[in-house]
Amino acid sequence: MKVAILGYGTVGSAVVKALIENEKIIKARCGQNIIPVIALARSVKKNSLIPVTQNADEILNRKDIDVFVELMGGVKEPFAIIKQLLKKKKNVVTANKAMLAYHRYELEKLASNLAFGYEASVAGAIPIIKVLKEGLSANHILNIKGILNGTSNYILTHMSQKGSDFKEVLKRAQELGYAEADPSFDIEGFDAAHKLLILASIAYGIRAVPEDILIEGISGISNEDVYFANEFGFTIKLLGVAKAQDSKVELRVHPTMLSKNEMIAKVDGVMNAVSIRGDMLGESLYYGAGAGGLATASAVISDLLDIARGQLKTPMFGFKSDMKYSLLPIEDIYTKYYLRLKVEDKIGVLSKITQMMSENSISIDSFLQKPKADETYSTLFFTTHHTFEKSIKNLIHTLKKQKFIKTSPFMMRIE
Ligand SMILES: NC(=O)c1ccc[n+]([C@@H]2O[C@H](COP(=O)([O-])OP(=O)(O)OC[C@H]3O[C@@H](n4cnc5c(N)ncnc54)[C@H](OP(=O)(O)O)[C@@H]3O)[C@@H](O)[C@H]2O)c1
Repeated sequence: MKVAILGYGTVGSAVVKALIENEKIIKARCGQNIIPVIALARSVKKNSLIPVTQNADEILNRKDIDVFVELMGGVKEPFAIIKQLLKKKKNVVTANKAMLAYHRYELEKLASNLAFGYEASVAGAIPIIKVLKEGLSANHILNIKGILNGTSNYILTHMSQKGSDFKEVLKRAQELGYAEADPSFDIEGFDAAHKLLILASIAYGIRAVPEDILIEGISGISNEDVYFANEFGFTIKLLGVAKAQDSKVELRVHPTMLSKNEMIAKVDGVMNAVSIRGDMLGESLYYGAGAGGLATASAVISDLLDIARGQLKTPMFGFKSDMKYSLLPIEDIYTKYYLRLKVEDKIGVLSKITQMMSENSISIDSFLQKPKADETYSTLFFTTHHTFEKSIKNLIHTLKKQKFIKTSPFMMRIE
C-alpha cells in the first residue's frame, strides 16, 4: 500500500520513520508493506528519509497513491485538500482536530464508504476513537471526562505540587518544548474543545462547533485556588466534559475542581486520560501520551493498518442514522461551583454576599476565609451545592457591581 504524507513536521516525519523502522511487524500484522513514497512540506528538507516536495499538485495528482495522510495542521487549506481527495475517491487519514472540530460532518458526507481515519486527532497515542466507535458501541454513553491537553495538565500539576505561579510554570513549559511560543490555543481550552467535539460526535452525534460550547482556560487560576483545592481535598484539572441527560448533552471545557480520590485526578504532567462511563460497563479509564511525534504516529499508523486490512469501519462516526441527542444550552448546565472573592474587610460584607447568593437560589456548601492578604482586603472562598450556570453568572454579574469587591470574582466548576 502506497502512502503520501502531507506535512513532514513533528508527526509526519515520525510516521515515515516508524513505517520504515517497524516495516516487518507492520507487514506481519496487515499482510502487506505500507510504503511512504513521498511527503509534502513548505520548506526544503535535507536528509529526509523519503523524497519531500513543495509542490502539492505533484502529490495530489499521483494516481498510484492508496492513502493520503494529512499532517499539515491548520483548517482551511487541509480541508480544501481533503475535500479534493475524497471527491477523487481517495482514502484519507488525518490527525487534524482543529479541522475536524469545524468540518467533520461535511467530510463524513463526502467520505461516505471510503476509509477516513482520525484516531490521532484525540488524545495522541490513546486509541480512544476505536474504544468509543467499536469497543463501547453497545453502551449508552452517560459521560466522558477527559484530560485532553498535556500542556495545561503539565502547568496545573506543577502549580499544585510545587506551589509555582502560573506564569513561571508556563515559561518552564515553553523552555521544555511542552508549550508553544503562543500557548493560548492550549491553555485557553480550544485544543481540548476540538477533541471533545470529535468524541461527542461518536458518542452522541452532536453537530456543534467550538463556538457553541462552553470553553474556559486555565490562565485565571492563582496559587490561592490551588491552596483552597489542597485544603479541601480537590485537585484542579482542565477537563473536557460531555454528559448526557435524556436527549440533551452538555459539552464544556474548563478548569475543574475534582476530588483527589477520582482516578482521573491522579493523571499528572503532560499525560492525557479519558474516563468514559457507559450504561453497561460503568466507568472505564484510558491513559497515555497525548502528543509527541512517535506517540501520535502510533495512532496514525494504526489507521493505516486498518485500511490495509480492509477494516477501517465506516461510517466515520460509527452511526448510520441520526442520533436523538441535542446540545444543552450553556445556561442550563447544572453543577457545583467554587468562587473566590477578594473583598473589603468590613462588617456586613459577608452577609450581603450570602443574601445575593440566596436571591439567586444558590446554597453554600463550604466557606473559607484566608488569613488577610493586606490590611483592608480579605479573600473569601465558597463552594456551592448544585445550581444552574445562569444563577452563578447572575450572581457574578451582581457582585462585580459592588463597591466592596476588589478584583473580578473568579469561578470554577466542581465535578
Ligand atoms: N505534534 C503533536 O504532538 C500532535 C499530536 C496530535 C495531533 N497533532 C496534529 O497533527 C498535525 C501536524 O502536527 P505537527 O506537530 O506535526 O505540525 P508541524 O510540526 O508544524 O508540521 C507541519 C508540517 O506540514 C507542513 N505544512 C504546513 N502547511 C503546509 C502547506 N500549506 N503546504 C505544504 N506543507 C505544509 C510543514 O512544512 P514545513 O516543515 O516546511 O513548515 C510541516 O512539515 C496537526 O494537525 C496537529 O494538530 C499533532
